[in-house]
Amino acid sequence: MNEFKYRGNELYCEDVLVWRIASEVGTPVYLYSQKTLENHYTAFDSAFSAVPHITCYSVKANSNLSLIKLFSDLGGGLDVVSGGEIFRALRAGASPGKIVYSGVGKTRAEIEYALDFGILMFNVESPQELDLIDSVAGDMGKKARIALRVNPDVDPKTHPYISTGLKENKFGIRIESAMDEYKRAAAMKNIDVAGVDCHIGSQLTETGPFADAIEKVKDFVSALIKEGMDIRYFDIGGGLGITYDKETPPSPVEYANVVIKSIGDLPCTLILEPGRVIVGNAGMLVTRVLFTKKSEDKNFIIVDAGMNDLMRPSLYGAYQGILPLKKNKGDMITADIVGPICETGDFFAKSREVQDFVQDDYLSVESAGAYGFTMASNYNSRPKIAEVLVNETEYFIVRNRETYEDLVKHENVPEHLRKSD
Ligand code: LLP
Repeated sequence: MNEFKYRGNELYCEDVLVWRIASEVGTPVYLYSQKTLENHYTAFDSAFSAVPHITCYSVKANSNLSLIKLFSDLGGGLDVVSGGEIFRALRAGASPGKIVYSGVGKTRAEIEYALDFGILMFNVESPQELDLIDSVAGDMGKKARIALRVNPDVDPKTHPYISTGLKENKFGIRIESAMDEYKRAAAMKNIDVAGVDCHIGSQLTETGPFADAIEKVKDFVSALIKEGMDIRYFDIGGGLGITYDKETPPSPVEYANVVIKSIGDLPCTLILEPGRVIVGNAGMLVTRVLFTKKSEDKNFIIVDAGMNDLMRPSLYGAYQGILPLKKNKGDMITADIVGPICETGDFFAKSREVQDFVQDDYLSVESAGAYGFTMASNYNSRPKIAEVLVNETEYFIVRNRETYEDLVKHENVPEHLRKSD
């Protein structure tokens, strides 16, 4: 379902030759396909059309303003985790009434900002956060709609760094103590108890853990309703995985069928927070071969993108596919694709069978639309790279490449260091 395809030997994004973008915009560059983004969003959202729901795209996966605008225009809500993401939502013209705000460490200023903006709901992750929201809302003369994030202690069977719903994880409130916390919330003057939230992890490739989590939390929701609480929203988070290599995750329809069946007849609007499944395979990172170093026992292909631009392989040992922009008929070799950063962990692929790339060839790192640019840094004083959105036969630079000036624009050298002798 994605729009990155070869015509002959050349890779296209929709109707634009990727090589053309690489040579005109320069590399490294992130490339997104608008049609793929739309297809993925629509496939996901329509899979839930049988039930009342809001698809709140998870901004952390890719927070480019153009993407936020695109999903908002398609009718979606947003899942945000910081004041900065709320600012982006506001700037993109998203409707505040469809925004849910998660995160274990919200500050007073962020809570004020969210209340001012008029978001749909806070997903509260601790008793102290609940107290703070109550007090801030009181100071502002507002009532804050909340859900408590319940930790159901379910193993999502994914990478440990992105598992969140086990009791040893820092997220949410243990299901055993959540009832007491809900009762406390219900008695607070400035709190409107509106929902229940859970999110168990990311890049899940089976439906079982989702079903287990929903079953556990569903009984809890029923118990809350019996207690007389007006639970209108059941937020089940995000987490649906994608194919990076050989994974076979459930399709949105398979996922939706399991979710809808598990939810049963709960009288709640379902909130979904998909990130990766919408944007992951709608983007790639295009990079140029700077040098090749080949020896009998090891081949390195050194490219102009680094772990600072896409850190998933370094951080999680994640697999990302490698494609040439122009296929040649030459031999295949086994090589490490590495970046220019001064760290051995700076790689995109290890011992991978790839085309025998030569200097100045372009290649693309696949499945880089999610947690790519959003996790990029300026490490090694490398300017952040450009982002390009392709729409049919045209392309648009939706984020300019940073300059060297951008690297230092927030720094101040104090007077006493500026003296020359
Ligand atoms: N909702 C909450 C509360 C989350 O914490 C997350 C992701 C999502 C929704 C969206 O999950 P998704 O549908 O994208 O799986 N940097 C890692 C992934 C971190 C995910 C963090 N939370 C990676 O590159 O794999």
